[in-house]
Amino acid sequence: METFSNLIDLDSYSPDEWNMIVELAQQIQKNPALYRSRCSGKIMGTLFYEPSTRTQMSFQTAMLRLGGTIIGFDNPSTSSVSKGENIKDTTKIVSSYADILVMRNPYEGSAKAAALTADCPVINAGDGGHLHPTQTLTDMLTLKNEKGRLDHLKIGLCGDLRYGRTVHSQLKALSRYEGNEFILISTPELALPSYIKDVLNARGCTYKEIYSLDEAITGESLDMLYMTRIQKERFSSEEEYNRQKDVFRLDTEKMKKAPKDMIVMHPLPRVDEIAMDVDDDPRAMYFTQAKNGMFVRMALIISVLEGRLGAPKLLTGT
Ligand code: CP
Repeated sequence: METFSNLIDLDSYSPDEWNMIVELAQQIQKNPALYRSRCSGKIMGTLFYEPSTRTQMSFQTAMLRLGGTIIGFDNPSTSSVSKGENIKDTTKIVSSYADILVMRNPYEGSAKAAALTADCPVINAGDGGHLHPTQTLTDMLTLKNEKGRLDHLKIGLCGDLRYGRTVHSQLKALSRYEGNEFILISTPELALPSYIKDVLNARGCTYKEIYSLDEAITGESLDMLYMTRIQKERFSSEEEYNRQKDVFRLDTEKMKKAPKDMIVMHPLPRVDEIAMDVDDDPRAMYFTQAKNGMFVRMALIISVLEGRLGAPKLLTGT
């Protein structure tokens, strides 16, 4: 049973609690200096078994900006993981040194397993192709800042919808707000897994699967287009990856045909799915989004350490 305010899956909390984190992030964004001693004396442990730039550094920067300190590893080969230590033991030990743990791991369910053994709250910073809840909070802050709302949005999600944990987390969260519609743009091989479609269906959420990015951009009046990377590391063979990697590419020609107020988001890193010259388009929000990740993680650290989220509801199913 989970005893701490862990964040493994946003579904453990209510949209009101998510909104509270986003609103606190907006407050912090207005005047970060007000919060610089908020976590003084607290220690965050970051256990990154998989590479990361944004998630790891924004968490670390967030804690440092709150007056706390950090320990951890960003490469398991420099820790005793390389000697065969299991997640349970590593988590048990580091959670006895730290006040909050942030973990990224290539295995689905690993963050939940860590939370079962940890002596402090655990934040899921991405578990394999499953979920990435703090990216979703980042996406929500960006939507709230740029579109002014989290409901009645038409959102296109493009690329790797099968293994894309950012997509899975976002769909599970935004499907709980009224009136949101989703256009799922992928090849059949990288289509959204049925367990996430089941969530959308159970919530009576409107979604459509299409194969063409052009069709989505010109025909769907999107409020936001969420591009994602085809993740080489999730494929079992190079051939399969090569077949998928260049199917969808957003460039300035496509942007000319897009709605004037359609913002473009991407969890990053990108490879070739967004041409570099799209960066100059004022609708390109991915760098702003990455910066927002720091503010939302500051808000999350405060909320978890100060017990503002309360105990998580028992997780069931996905
Ligand atoms: N968006 C994201 O998770 O980026 P990193 O892999 O760089 O952390």
